[in-house]
Amino acid sequence: ERSNDILNVSTVQAGQYGTSFLHLIFPDLAAKTAFELFYSRVGQHTSVGGYWNDPHKQALYMKYSEFLPLINNEKLSSNSTSFKMGMVRLNKLVLIGGPNDGVITPWQSSHFSYFNESLDVVPFYKREIYMNDSIGLKTLLEAEKLIIIVKPFVHHLSWHSNKRVINQVIMPYLD
Ligand SMILES: *[C@@H]1O[C@H](CO)[C@@H](O)[C@H](O)[C@H]1NC(C)=O
Ligand SMILES: *[C@@H]1O[C@H](CO)[C@@H](O)[C@H](O)[C@H]1NC(C)=O
Ligand SMILES: *[C@@H]1O[C@H](CO)[C@@H](O)[C@H](O)[C@H]1NC(C)=O
Repeated sequence: ERSNDILNVSTVQAGQYGTSFLHLIFPDLAAKTAFELFYSRVGQHTSVGGYWNDPHKQALYMKYSEFLPLINNEKLSSNSTSFKMGMVRLNKLVLIGGPNDGVITPWQSSHFSYFNESLDVVPFYKREIYMNDSIGLKTLLEAEKLIIIVKPFVHHLSWHSNKRVINQVIMPYLD
């Protein structure tokens, strides 16, 4: 029996673009040219590549990214219906992130919000993935089952170990 609640603590939902996490893995790679690597067969098999969402190269992202546009139903596949059904069946989807994460870029990607081509962060409720209800976020929100939590002053590497975070943010949602 699978759990019907999902708690995502600072996970990348909408993709990433920027140097803070890129340089953890590829210190010399420039964000502007990283698409050449990541939107290739080899690059897609790196952990960063699968989440790379270059706001200036959306056509390449849609064409070559083998992971994110599929699980987010930005690109339809034979699995799209079951991905969405899996989401709308949840009792609760809790998304936790914060501005001091320091690794996820933009940090709002933990809430499905993301950069536009001007690198402004567009809130999730103004993005197509929400407005089209592509993966059921709108259904969940309207049913009060989507819970968005912004928690400042927690670095990416502390989310899971910090007792304060666990007590204040995580425990109340585990019932
Ligand atoms: C959202 O819906 C519009 C209009 O039906 C469509 O053109 C567009 O491709 C959809 N976008 C996504 C991400 O599904
Ligand atoms: C659909 O899901 C199955 C099982 O997880 C996977 O093997 C297959 O590659 C997926 N198909 C697409 C088009 O994503
Ligand atoms: C997104 O981009 C457009 C044009 O590049 C800009 O005018 C708009 O204000 C941006 N921001 C948001 C949050 O939509």
